[in-house]
Amino acid sequence: MAKRKKTTREASKRSAVTRRRGNGAQGAIALLKGDHRQVESWFAQFEKTRSEGRKLELARNICKALTVHATIEEEIFYPAFLEATEDVKLHHEAAVEHDGAKKLIAKIEASSADDEYYDARVTVLSEMVKHHVKEEERRDGMFARARQSEMDLQELGKRLEARKAELMGEEAAGRGRRASRNGAWRGRGQPVERSRGM
Ligand SMILES: [Fe+2]
Ligand SMILES: [Fe+2]
Repeated sequence: MAKRKKTTREASKRSAVTRRRGNGAQGAIALLKGDHRQVESWFAQFEKTRSEGRKLELARNICKALTVHATIEEEIFYPAFLEATEDVKLHHEAAVEHDGAKKLIAKIEASSADDEYYDARVTVLSEMVKHHVKEEERRDGMFARARQSEMDLQELGKRLEARKAELMGEEAAGRGRRASRNGAWRGRGQPVERSRGM
């Protein structure tokens, strides 16, 4: 009888924890991991396809998604992580990796699919991102440390989601403006101008 009472107490303690942290309480991590999986899938497709048009489309998706992902991490998740954990090393290394990826993204966005360095840039970006994602998701990495901290991951998840939607809208509008200003693309994989050099 006494044993059953203890079990009930433990169960109710567990459900209180679940209410506080479970079911969506991992919202921020789930959202960021979802972005990682999406980009990984596009990189894999880029590697397989022989169509220049498809490569261009995939690279554009990758660059856009990574830009938005890096922005929401830098604006919302990374500062909250730093404040909660005071793990300067982990935070700064992640920020420096973002800088490296952003430079390469800018190169890819400024070049066309028939640029002889195009595939190499996307492949190197894929390797950089793979390394960075591994760092964020490893057992003692940023996401694991965030879960162990006092960060309100559910609240952060909502903020990340809202900012992501806003940035995706801005990206789409910017692309429309660039296309109508330049008339730059006659169709998939048929760039008007060629860009050379790293
Ligand atoms: Fe990330
Ligand atoms: Fe990151």
